[in-house]
Amino acid sequence: MEVVKNIVWHNATINKEDRHRMNGHKSAILWYTGLSGAGKSTLANKVEEKLFERGYHTYVLDGDNIRMGLNKGLGFTAEDRKENIRRIGEVAKLFVDAGVLVSTAFVSPYIEDREMVRALVKEGEFVEVYVAASLEVCESRDTKGLYKKARAGEIKNFTGISDPYEAPVNPELTVDTGSQTLDESAQTVINYLEEKGYIEKA
Ligand code: ADX
Repeated sequence: MEVVKNIVWHNATINKEDRHRMNGHKSAILWYTGLSGAGKSTLANKVEEKLFERGYHTYVLDGDNIRMGLNKGLGFTAEDRKENIRRIGEVAKLFVDAGVLVSTAFVSPYIEDREMVRALVKEGEFVEVYVAASLEVCESRDTKGLYKKARAGEIKNFTGISDPYEAPVNPELTVDTGSQTLDESAQTVINYLEEKGYIEKA
């Protein structure tokens, strides 16, 4: 890659704190991680719905969708996944700067990559939510039929089958979507956000 010189950071006139004041709430990244089919997108969207109804500024960045646009062309090697997560991290950081409670739903299987994103923002602005459905549960659901293909060897580097998933060691929150209903899982996240003062108590 070319080394770019001669660029100078320009400080914005309106900053994050101004936006927090205007919006009446703080911003942060809710980083959902877990196996394919664990329910990351479903949970992220349910939580967003609850926040949105309460007047919060929200957005969801979703793995499959982002891979069709911004990250088109990236595959599933460790290197491509790292670049995928790096870009999402940078975009999520911009959303935090814009005053939004932004949620991301990516497998993000490597601890190192998730920690890279955590380090991009201030302490407290990265909330790691481990969507902890077991491989057995995800595979039995197989909502997209991808586990079947991975088992048949038709998909290489498939997380949980032929590629690793490094579970978070110390996530802010663990949600067991295998044993809880969607509404219970979403409420777990909302309760955490209330307890930690990201949002007002209902
Ligand atoms: S990540 O590892 O780079 O974070 P990301 O969340 O963007 O992955 O994309 C994962 C989604 O892509 C899965 O939910 C699944 O639908 C699809 N997918 C296709 N191939 C693979 C693969 N080899 N491993 C995991 N997911 C895959």
